Amino acid sequence: MVAKAKSKSAWFCQNCGVESAKWVGKCPSCNEWNTFVEEIITKTKSTNIVGTNEGVKNKPLKISDISSSEEKRFNTQDMELNRVLGGGLVPGSLILIGGEPGIGKSTLALQIALHLKNFTTLYVSGEESAQQIKLRGNRINSDNEKCLIVSETLMENIFSHIKNTKPNIVVIDSIQTLATEKIEAAPGSVSQIRECTSQLLQFAKQSAVPVLLIGHITKDGNLAGPKILEHMVDTVLQFEGDQNHMYRILRSTKNRFGSTSEMGIYEMQHTGLREVSNPSELLLSQEDESLSGTAISASIEGMRPFLIEIQALVSSAAYGTPQRSSTGFDLRRLNMLLAVLEKRAGFRISTKDVFLNIAGGIKVNDPAIDLAVIIAILSSSTDISIPKEVCFAGEIGLSGEIRSVNRIDQRISEAEKLGFKQIFIPKYNSKGLDISKFNIKIHLVSKVGQVFQTLFR
Ligand code: TYD
Ligand code: MG
Repeated sequence: MVAKAKSKSAWFCQNCGVESAKWVGKCPSCNEWNTFVEEIITKTKSTNIVGTNEGVKNKPLKISDISSSEEKRFNTQDMELNRVLGGGLVPGSLILIGGEPGIGKSTLALQIALHLKNFTTLYVSGEESAQQIKLRGNRINSDNEKCLIVSETLMENIFSHIKNTKPNIVVIDSIQTLATEKIEAAPGSVSQIRECTSQLLQFAKQSAVPVLLIGHITKDGNLAGPKILEHMVDTVLQFEGDQNHMYRILRSTKNRFGSTSEMGIYEMQHTGLREVSNPSELLLSQEDESLSGTAISASIEGMRPFLIEIQALVSSAAYGTPQRSSTGFDLRRLNMLLAVLEKRAGFRISTKDVFLNIAGGIKVNDPAIDLAVIIAILSSSTDISIPKEVCFAGEIGLSGEIRSVNRIDQRISEAEKLGFKQIFIPKYNSKGLDISKFNIKIHLVSKVGQVFQTLFR
């Protein structure tokens, strides 16, 4: 045990990590209720972690004197992961992989460790025994003498394993199971997570060994533990999947060394995760005949581009006043779009019931889905289906004009990556856009009417 200098306890918000001297019902920082939990923190003099910083080695440098050579990156042998990381693993980086239980985080991490033939990897598991990991390794059907497995949860022991084995890469499964003797709080508590992460961060930066942390997520999809965990690490990856499909998507929500618009696609098989390098196979496999009333929008929510299906049903009103209802889309905006269709494009829908649904019940705030909404409504009202390989992005103005949308490059890239053949985008977005770099057919449109003419010719 490390000598205790001073012992004290404090209250921490389990949601955002804010510290308070006393209990409070509502977090002043993130406004969540009942999130404060008392944790005992024992302050000790901070000790040297890996014993490499005797004296101060770093000197402040003039920015012009700092060498600007590109960081050398490890090739992880996994093309999807390399892509998401922005070209490979940066030495000394701390990477957090989050995802729901059972989605395949441990499988992904073990697979990376097993495929890195020339690197020593230390896989620290706080959740499973070495035998359980061996069984998973057997399924993945890959062996690597340089992949070392240890079942351990105490930080001090982990660092001595690191000292003894000198790994090139460290995997921690998971950060919520770790504990350090410096702090008395339980594993998984805010202060433990914060302290363990900061020790690992210090280790990664001092030794230039990349560290992969696995993290749990809460039921609303956020990474469990304090938000500061996400601030501390260099890269946050989210591993997501569809319950009905075996596909898994790896996205970065934060990346200090690359863009966050890339995504990696995998398929979970009996023998581990298979990289899906051609995503259109994903679309083809679930393709049924095109139905009228659906249109696909190339959308962006937060930092993430994605394609989403809009469904509309237009039928003759059974009662005097037509009904308008929508899930996942603002009803007032729907009414506005219907008025635009009626007035500017001459479609008679004022006497029709209109129901609108955004697939998966996702609420989308992106104005660029307007165009797909209008097309879905028209497709249902004319009973003409839209080919599955076509998608749309554009905001509709009150005079029926199609207004430009943000980050058009990302939308087009995502549509192309997902195997779409054609995309309709606002004409005003063509400025500064290099159309020739895309393989997807791009239709530039400025009026709603133009889209119909091209589609329903
Ligand atoms: P796991 O990596 O344990 O998930 P996590 O660490 O995110 O909780 O993955 C568990 C699931 O993956 C489990 O339901 C079994 C499945 N799986 C396969 O389908 N094929 C495989 O080769 C492996 C190793 C797991
Ligand atoms: Mg796991």
